[in-house]
Amino acid sequence: MTESKTTTQKMTLPSDQDASGRTLGQDELDLLAQAIGTGKLFAPKGRFVKELETRFAEMLGASSAYACTSGSAAIHTAIAAIDPEPGDEIITTSVTDMGALTPILYQGAIPVFADVDPITCNVTAETIEERLSDRTKAIIVTHLFGSPCDMTAIMQLADSRGIPVIEDCAQSFMAEHRGRKVGSFGAVGCFSLQQGKHITTGEGGLVVSNDPAIARRLFLYINKAWGYGDEKPDHYFLALNYRMNEITGAVAVAQLGKLREVADRRVASAARLTSLLAGLPGITTPPVPKGDVHTFWKYCLNVDPEVIQGGSPGLGGALKEVDIPSAPRYIQKPSFMCQIFREQRTFGSSRWPFTLARPEAVDYDPAKFPGTMQGLERILVLPWNEKYTDDHVRFIADAVRSSVTKLAR
Ligand SMILES: Cc1ncc(COP(=O)(O)O)c(C=O)c1O
Repeated sequence: MTESKTTTQKMTLPSDQDASGRTLGQDELDLLAQAIGTGKLFAPKGRFVKELETRFAEMLGASSAYACTSGSAAIHTAIAAIDPEPGDEIITTSVTDMGALTPILYQGAIPVFADVDPITCNVTAETIEERLSDRTKAIIVTHLFGSPCDMTAIMQLADSRGIPVIEDCAQSFMAEHRGRKVGSFGAVGCFSLQQGKHITTGEGGLVVSNDPAIARRLFLYINKAWGYGDEKPDHYFLALNYRMNEITGAVAVAQLGKLREVADRRVASAARLTSLLAGLPGITTPPVPKGDVHTFWKYCLNVDPEVIQGGSPGLGGALKEVDIPSAPRYIQKPSFMCQIFREQRTFGSSRWPFTLARPEAVDYDPAKFPGTMQGLERILVLPWNEKYTDDHVRFIADAVRSSVTKLAR
């Protein structure tokens, strides 16, 4: 790769994997000390998780929010609230985190993968429509990298069929579609507080809803379906303990107070990079439709291998020479190519619930997913966080520019 050596000076970028790229500090320590001082670390007896839930619901304009232990738990809770019958189908995306997928199988439903737009790697109303069947019980959309899906078209389609939508907002806190926050369009919005998210408690999650019946089931599912506060409480149905504790809740409350600024900083620094990269051959910067807000969990470039030698991995290799990390492909392979789906590895040797699936629902022929195959081949995902200064952004822009100049055919 000698021909791709860049001349850019090295610079260490802040990372979301340690304090350099996180907003954790004295505010979190103060609330943590308060939580510990009360001796009440169990959320139903404490104040921090309740405060988190109230403030998060207000921020999203949702009538209810409940905290839970992870983004995966949030997705699981949302699916359990929809309560599919075994073998019901849930349409999802071929480009997402596994934590958004395995809960479908745990609830006995069949994940049916929709293709994605090759530039944003988001599902669209068209790709979802292709996978609808009379067994479709729900649709899960992931707003990937902080970029909102076209919720106008998706909700129109879903509403016309009476199918609930779950929004996976793990990567898209404060993102907006046509002036409205993601997470507030569908039946449930799901969020993650894992280490690398916009705000973090290491692990953690949240679900929001505007539907009182769904909200009730979300609350119950997180609480082993125990009817806290009811006159004659019981364990009403099969459910888990996904409760957040007060230690996590205290840190989350402090983090929540910083979310607006975190999102704004990411948006501003990403806009700066987009303007600095304008006009580069073979590079498509993240599109942001008018009226939408992309909150840049990551900054995702699209690299045309016909123009850039080595395509996305080639450019990633050149950036690595100046210590700029990047992830070609984002995920190594489309979700449907992972062993869990291809070999149907679930409960013992039963293959359940795949045994209930229509053959077309579990047809993972890559030829049926052209957007996914092209998108993953071409994307180059740059880490992003709220600590990036103008100098960091200029450094990245200079490195991309000089690498592209050297690699352009
Ligand atoms: C889109 C998406 N959905 C779900 C999850 C699962 O969240 P968690 O890791 O908090 O379980 C993640 C990431 O971590 C994610 O990025």
